[in-house]
Amino acid sequence: KTIDIQALIDSKNGQVTPSIYTDPEIYELELERIFGRCWLFLAHESQIPKAGDFFNTYMGEDPIVVVRQKDGTVKAFLNQCRHRSMRVSYADSGNTKAFTCPYHGWSYATNGDLIEVPLEPRAYPQGLCKSKWGLQEVTKVASYKGLIFGTWDENAVNLEEYMGDMAWYLDGVLDRREGGTEIVGGIHKWTIDCNWKFAAEQFASDQYHALFSHASAVQVLGAKPEDEQKALGSGQTARPVWETAKDALQFGQDGHGSGFFFTEKPDANVWVDGEVSDYYRETYPEALERLGEIRALRLAGHNTLFPTLSWLNGTATLRVWHPRGPNQVEVWAFCITDKNAPEEVKAAFERSATRAFGPAGFLEQDDSENWVEIQKILRGHRARNSQLCMEMGMGNEKIRDDGVPGITNYIFSETAARGFYQHWANLLSSQTWQEAKAKTDAYQKTLVENSKE
Ligand code: FES
Repeated sequence: KTIDIQALIDSKNGQVTPSIYTDPEIYELELERIFGRCWLFLAHESQIPKAGDFFNTYMGEDPIVVVRQKDGTVKAFLNQCRHRSMRVSYADSGNTKAFTCPYHGWSYATNGDLIEVPLEPRAYPQGLCKSKWGLQEVTKVASYKGLIFGTWDENAVNLEEYMGDMAWYLDGVLDRREGGTEIVGGIHKWTIDCNWKFAAEQFASDQYHALFSHASAVQVLGAKPEDEQKALGSGQTARPVWETAKDALQFGQDGHGSGFFFTEKPDANVWVDGEVSDYYRETYPEALERLGEIRALRLAGHNTLFPTLSWLNGTATLRVWHPRGPNQVEVWAFCITDKNAPEEVKAAFERSATRAFGPAGFLEQDDSENWVEIQKILRGHRARNSQLCMEMGMGNEKIRDDGVPGITNYIFSETAARGFYQHWANLLSSQTWQEAKAKTDAYQKTLVENSKE
């Protein structure tokens, strides 16, 4: 059968058919046209500082080894021996002069060249053209402020163009301080029995769930109503953040999404240790100078760079949603902090990120529980073919005039979700990048023209 992808996504009317989360045929198409074409996060520069340093990751389901070259550049290769398909690099990360396949011993230099074949004259008396059988190199690799990305598509737009206005939001994490960022501690890896899009979409678009899904955590860890009341004094009533914040917004464009409140307080984040709050307060003047008030004051922002790189401002978690079939996702959660932060603050960031968003994190569990249950419900024929409502904030999109770039809406909206799925459908239904981009541009043009402001 041929799937009509566009028929499953109706972003103009705010509807999505949930078979997109379960259909194995759609999943295969995603591996080819999303994960085979988009710029995907590979590693942080700080993880591979020296020549020969390598880091193992995935692009979709393809294993990838990222390697620092002798000249300081970075290359990435499919971690697959060209002889009989074995993995050539096993450690999560390390330093090496060569990758030697454990099956029959073929050996590859860190630039991917096949350099050694055991018993070569006897095994290949006819001759073996080794230059033909080097590791397959990821077509394009590029860095943005410490984050290394790769794409298999030679016709993909360059990384800056791919990120578009989302770079402005990403800078809120990467560019707060002189010296940039680094990854602290190890990487938490675990699987969740749900489709990868639930996670990526929620981080792009969904602040709405936090009020309800995380209500118990907010009660336990947030400011106690009686304390707030005491701080306010009699005659005033404590009010929720969406009423007290200076402003709040959601951004959704080119499949990417971001959202945050901004407040008067640079240290306002209920999920972090005291050292982290103090650090935000102390470094606020530098952040203000580098980023301007809106980004320096953002609180607990959620973000996805399409398709699978997500992060949360304040909590310092950065994660990749590696797809593992239509019904499972493998999460890789990194802790990212300012490189110039004191060591004790970095440790506090790591503790806070682990406590809230590690595999047993109290907020992570709230989210996973929802996604896993939904995936179970979608085993039902009726359930996976019944349209879901994605109408929140439709028609209220606007272009702001205060320096915040791109298509925005109020924070409680699904502009970014509609954009995520529209771009997803455009990529799946297009032969080329240019064709997909033209469709996404046309959708976004209509969106802004039809908005009320
Ligand atoms: Fe790698 Fe044979 S599979 S050497």
